[in-house]
Amino acid sequence: MEGWDPQRIVVGVDGSEQSIHATRVAASIARARSAHLLILAVVRPPEGWWGIVGSPPTAEALGDSLSNAQREVLDRTVEVVDLDGIDYETAEDIGEPSQRLIEACSDADLLVVGRRGAGFLRRMVVGSVATHVVHEAPCPVLIVP
Ligand SMILES: Nc1ncnc2c1ncn2[C@@H]1O[C@H](COP(=O)(O)OP(=O)(O)OP(=O)(O)O)[C@@H](O)[C@H]1O
Ligand SMILES: [Mg+2]
Repeated sequence: MEGWDPQRIVVGVDGSEQSIHATRVAASIARARSAHLLILAVVRPPEGWWGIVGSPPTAEALGDSLSNAQREVLDRTVEVVDLDGIDYETAEDIGEPSQRLIEACSDADLLVVGRRGAGFLRRMVVGSVATHVVHEAPCPVLIVP
C-alpha cells in the first residue's frame, strides 16, 4: 500500500488517566486498521542505581517490586480499555521512559502518548516524556490531550 498504513502501533502507559485515554485512542486506530498494538510501561530505576552498577539493571537485579508496579499499571489499563478484537500485547521495560519508548518504535508505524502523565509537578504544558519522543521518535507520534 502506498502512503501510510499503520500496522504496528505502540502506546506508552504510566498509570495516569491521560495514558489510559491515549490507550483508548491507540486501540481505536488499531481496531480500524487491524494493526498490532504494543502497550508499554517503562519503569525508571531508582536514583543512584546506575551509578553503582554502571549499566541499567536487569529486571531480576532490580527486584520484583518495581516490576510489580508496572504490572499493575498494565493490568489496570487492559481492564478499563476496550481491547476486544485487537491483536495487542503488554510489555514492561526498565530505563529512561522516553528512550525505551523510542527503541520500542524501531519498526513501529505510530507512537501514541498522552500530553501529560503521572508526574505531579506541573512545570511544563507538555510532559517531558511526550516532549522527548516528539523530538526523537523514528515514526509519527500522536499526542493525546
Ligand atoms: N514510564 C512511562 N512508561 C510508558 N509511557 C510513559 C511513561 N511516562 C510517560 N509515558 C507516556 O507519556 C505521556 C506523557 O507523560 P509525561 O511523563 O511526559 O508527563 P508528566 O508525567 O505529566 O510530566 P513529567 O514526567 O515530565 O513530570 C503519558 O501519558 C504516557 O503516555
Ligand atoms: Mg511523567
